[in-house]
Amino acid sequence: MEQSFAGKTAVVTGAASGIGYTVAHHLAERGARIVGVDLGERVVELMAGLPGLGHHGIVRDLTDPAAAGDVFAEIVERVGTPHILVNSAGIALLDPATDVPAERWKATIDVNLSASFYMAQAAGRLMIEAGYGRIVNLASQAAVIGLDQHAAYCASKAAIVGLTHVLSLEWARRGVTVNAVSPTVVETPLGKAAWAGEKGEKAKAEIPVGRFAQPEEVAALIAFLASDAAAMITGENVLIDGGFTTV
Ligand SMILES: NC(=O)c1ccc[n+]([C@@H]2O[C@H](COP(=O)([O-])OP(=O)(O)OC[C@H]3O[C@@H](n4cnc5c(N)ncnc54)[C@H](O)[C@@H]3O)[C@@H](O)[C@H]2O)c1
Repeated sequence: MEQSFAGKTAVVTGAASGIGYTVAHHLAERGARIVGVDLGERVVELMAGLPGLGHHGIVRDLTDPAAAGDVFAEIVERVGTPHILVNSAGIALLDPATDVPAERWKATIDVNLSASFYMAQAAGRLMIEAGYGRIVNLASQAAVIGLDQHAAYCASKAAIVGLTHVLSLEWARRGVTVNAVSPTVVETPLGKAAWAGEKGEKAKAEIPVGRFAQPEEVAALIAFLASDAAAMITGENVLIDGGFTTV
C-alpha cells in the first residue's frame, strides 16, 4: 500500500548512511519533513538534498545520554513535535566471544541499545503529550538467532526487541506505536563490511530467497509501520529476512 506522509515530521537516526538514509529518502519522497541525526557531518548535506523542502540534518553522537534531549529540544523549536522516530544508528563489531574487548562490548551496547532508548524515551514523552507517534527500532535477525562472532551485536539487538515490547505496552493507549524491524543482511556499508567474501556467499546461499536484502525493501516495511495504516500493529518484531530464521 502506497503511503502519504504529507504533514508528518520524521526523525531518522543514522541518516547519513545505509538504511537510515534510504528511509529518510523514502519518507521524504512521500511528503514527510525529515530531521536526520548522525555522527557523520555529511548528514547535513544529505538531508538538504532530499526530495521536498524543510529537511535538516543534526550532527550528534547519540551515545551521549544528553544528546536525545538536546536533539528533540532543537526539533521542537524548529518544526514542532515529530510524528515518527526511526532508530537506525547502529554498529557491528565482530569478535569471537572469548575475545570481545570490554570497550567494543560497551560501544556496541551504547550505540545499538542505549542511544535507541534515549531517543525513544525523549520522543515518547513528546508523542504521548501529542497523542500520536510511530517509533520503529532497527533490530536484526541477530535478535532472534545466534550468529558466529556476534555476541555483543546479538545481545544488543535482542535487547532492542525487549525494549520495544515494554515501550509498546506502556504507550499503546496514548496513540504511540513502537515496533522493531529485523532484517537479514542488508547491502549497506555495515552489511557489506560484516559479510564480505566467502562468508557472505555462504550466508546468502543459506537464505531461502537466495540473496541479501536491499535497503529500499527495508525502508518500505519501516514506512508501513510508520504510517497511519499501521495503528493496530505495536510491540511487534517484524522479520524481513528472506525466510532465513524460519529454516
Ligand atoms: N546492514 C545490515 O546487514 C543490517 C542487518 C540487520 C540490521 N541492521 C541494523 O540497521 C541499522 C542501520 O544499519 P546500516 O546497515 O544502515 O548501517 P550503516 O553503517 O550504513 O549506517 C549506520 C549509521 O549510523 C551512524 N552512527 C553510528 N554510530 C552513531 C552514533 N553514536 N551516533 C549517531 N549516529 C551513529 C553512522 O555514522 C552511520 O551513518 C543498524 O542498527 C544495524 O544494526 C543492519
